[in-house]
Amino acid sequence: MSFIVQPTAPSRPNRCQLFGPGSRPGIFEKMAASAADVINLDLEDSVAPDDKPQARSNIVQAIGDIDWGRKCLSVRINGLDTPYWYRDVVDLLEQASERLDQIMIPKVGRAADVYAVDALVTAAESASGRTKRISLEVIIESAAGIAHVEEIASSSPRLQAMSLGAADFAASMGMQTTGIGGTQENYYMIHDGKKHWSDPWHWAQAAIVAACRAHGVLPVDGPFGDFSDDEGFVAQARRSATLGMVGKWAIHPRQVSLANEVFTPSEDQVSEAREILDAMEQARKEGSGATVYKGRLVDIASIRQAEVIVQQAAVITETQTS
Ligand code: COA
Ligand code: MG
Repeated sequence: MSFIVQPTAPSRPNRCQLFGPGSRPGIFEKMAASAADVINLDLEDSVAPDDKPQARSNIVQAIGDIDWGRKCLSVRINGLDTPYWYRDVVDLLEQASERLDQIMIPKVGRAADVYAVDALVTAAESASGRTKRISLEVIIESAAGIAHVEEIASSSPRLQAMSLGAADFAASMGMQTTGIGGTQENYYMIHDGKKHWSDPWHWAQAAIVAACRAHGVLPVDGPFGDFSDDEGFVAQARRSATLGMVGKWAIHPRQVSLANEVFTPSEDQVSEAREILDAMEQARKEGSGATVYKGRLVDIASIRQAEVIVQQAAVITETQTS
């Protein structure tokens, strides 16, 4: 065990990030009224090149005009390989109200990409006299991004969250699929003559979770493209939650409640975690480091596992009641 204590990730719910194109202001009020913890107004790939200036001004205006409640309000800027991104940052920092919480940087390939945006944000923030410090989130969606995932996770104290972007990731990796997340027809093994599907996103997700947990950043699962497939969405989200991710994007409002349900520990999970903590407290009093709970071993590591679930539930309850 390293003597360096693992940093904790920001303590705020991030179960669902609802996206909407900046060029479609008609849905902004609906996004604000949704049950998503995070709102991502998009300037990138859901906005056509000719619509970028109008989308910027729609977003700048909506940030100040709409009541976003207690949601984390984030804007996805364009990638650093485009001519748009600096204007996105400058307009947001100079013109949007202080209600803006976060900027999402897509297609991050190395720590220096985050450094560049951080430098521009820092200068614009100070020049425009803003008092609230903008946080950053990134999308890992390229071969370079996953190859440099750890240096990206440690790139800036502003960095709060990191998502896997399945579509661009698949394209960059040369994966033979047009699906956005979920089961891929050709990714299977044969056992006893039958097909058993495996998860091609698993390793990238696990790499993101490890990088994020090592550096106190929230790991998030990105989009699931087939928004008419609720069962597929839930299965993908459950796998992500099991691996340690804290939430998932919604690219259609019907996915919001599905994500919230998966990423909120159930009452059964929370009460089991509490019972494990009680059993271990009893064991400690009796001078023992391990005991039996429902026929299985629990020991001091079980305390840490149970605390993860209790803590997740506490963060969600706190924001709902305060
Ligand atoms: N947020 C909030 N409300 C939304 C919404 C969103 N992202 N997308 C659609 N709605 C609303 C519609 O306005 C409609 O409202 P109404 O019942 O009051 O008329 C309702 O939800 C049902 O919408 P529906 O007709 O099923 O979808 P659509 O054809 O209007 O839009 C998409 C479908 C996929 C184009 C749209 O959901 C969308 O743009 N999603 C985000 C895409 C994005 O941002 N991608 C970038 C990240 S990958
Ligand atoms: Mg993308």
